[in-house]
Amino acid sequence: MHEITILGLGYVGLTMAACLAEQGIKTTGVDLDKEKIATINAGKSPIHEPRLEEFISKALKAGTFKATSDLENSLRTSNITFVTVGTPSLPDGSISLEYVRSAAESIGRTLNRTQNYHLVVVRSTVIPGTCLEVVKPILEKASGKVCGKDFGLCSNPEFLKEGSAVQDMMRPDRVVIGENDRRSGDTLQDFYHQLYEREMPRLIRTSLANAELIKYANNAFLASKVSFINSLAHLCEKTPQADVEVIAEAIGLDPRIGPLFLKAGLGWGGSCFPKDLKAILAYAREQNIELPIIDAAIRINEIQPIWSVRKAKEALGELKGKRIALLGLAFKPDTDDIREAVSIRIIQRLLQEGSFVSAYDPAAMENTRKLFGKKIVFADSAQKCIQDADCCILITEWQEFKRLTPEDFRIRMHEPILIDGRRLYNHEEYSGKLNYYAIGLGSCASTS
Ligand SMILES: NC(=O)c1ccc[n+]([C@@H]2O[C@H](COP(=O)([O-])OP(=O)(O)OC[C@H]3O[C@@H](n4cnc5c(N)ncnc54)[C@H](O)[C@@H]3O)[C@@H](O)[C@H]2O)c1
Repeated sequence: MHEITILGLGYVGLTMAACLAEQGIKTTGVDLDKEKIATINAGKSPIHEPRLEEFISKALKAGTFKATSDLENSLRTSNITFVTVGTPSLPDGSISLEYVRSAAESIGRTLNRTQNYHLVVVRSTVIPGTCLEVVKPILEKASGKVCGKDFGLCSNPEFLKEGSAVQDMMRPDRVVIGENDRRSGDTLQDFYHQLYEREMPRLIRTSLANAELIKYANNAFLASKVSFINSLAHLCEKTPQADVEVIAEAIGLDPRIGPLFLKAGLGWGGSCFPKDLKAILAYAREQNIELPIIDAAIRINEIQPIWSVRKAKEALGELKGKRIALLGLAFKPDTDDIREAVSIRIIQRLLQEGSFVSAYDPAAMENTRKLFGKKIVFADSAQKCIQDADCCILITEWQEFKRLTPEDFRIRMHEPILIDGRRLYNHEEYSGKLNYYAIGLGSCASTS
């Protein structure tokens, strides 16, 4: 039976730790943040993620999980360590390896004092060459041992989506193992067999560099797909009777295209797409390679949120002194994460225009308050948020917003103007009753 250390208890590390421990695998989560450790050990999740808190408290009770800042002890009792620390963007778009380096250094120093074979697995998203040229030399120097002989090294990228992280961890569509040597790959494969038993997902065993690059290729492709449909949405708006939703549905039926990530909206955000696309571009630049499709995907995404502000201005004449209600702040539903969320760009632009902003989100208000403080008003329900507003912009497609009827908007708002940035509402029902603008909808678009 494998015993696991997970270094870095953020979205990826904590979800992974809770899921492994819930499956009965002895797991220790290590983080530098003592407050976070205390929260987790009290059975609470520091992040909003469906089912995560339930998994944490079950695993704590079963004794299969604990959080600590003591790496040395944890490493001694485990045989595999997953590195899940952050790899944030630097101003030039490349990623900072500061946390990865210091994690490797700490692991190496501890390996120096242990006897048994230990496998180090880099699960953080890192540019090609990081495991071989950065992590391996640091581990070897700090431990005084030889990689491939005394300890193993793998790259094992994570593909989970915030909002469904637990489900994605329990049922991934594939496992990618980049290996330094055969024994390292065999050990990690054996661990995944223990975890998934008979429901083992498709497994890809490959080089360290391929595994690192697969993660970037994956996110760059998905983000480009969204930017493609978002730019098409603008063409639809200029084309009478056109509707980007119908076009997306039809092209999505082509198996060469597929239906997912073809939803037009206000653009992508979050901790991964923006950071990963900039990082792959920076890496390509270093290699003197141009990636114009990825470059275009980023540029399309930068202007996409401002579509909603432009529409509000069109509808109201001017935004100065107007009350704008924002529904949704998180970068996607079912998370409290606002890293690179489009809501931030929209709020900044509305404040520049001199509007009064009221906002509501089921989970992300605390994080948004840290950024904007009293510059905007936080409502404690969607209904209160739209009360007396001159215009409402739907930013995040939380399911609870779907319950708002055209009547709810009409009764409460000063002007019943609704800008649906995520195509949450049925345009035929809402456009008859409200001043309704939807992304990617040409004039008079109707199925009849
Ligand atoms: N968030 C996602 O949806 C997602 C999905 C796939 C991959 N990733 C990648 O996974 C990595 C982690 O992402 P995240 O969102 O979980 O990050 P995060 O910032 O939420 O968490 C990182 C954690 O690591 C801890 N940490 C930093 N240095 C440490 C050290 N030396 N020892 C112990 N703990 C340390 C921090 O305190 C923090 O709790 C990144 O490379 C990211 O790109 C993220």
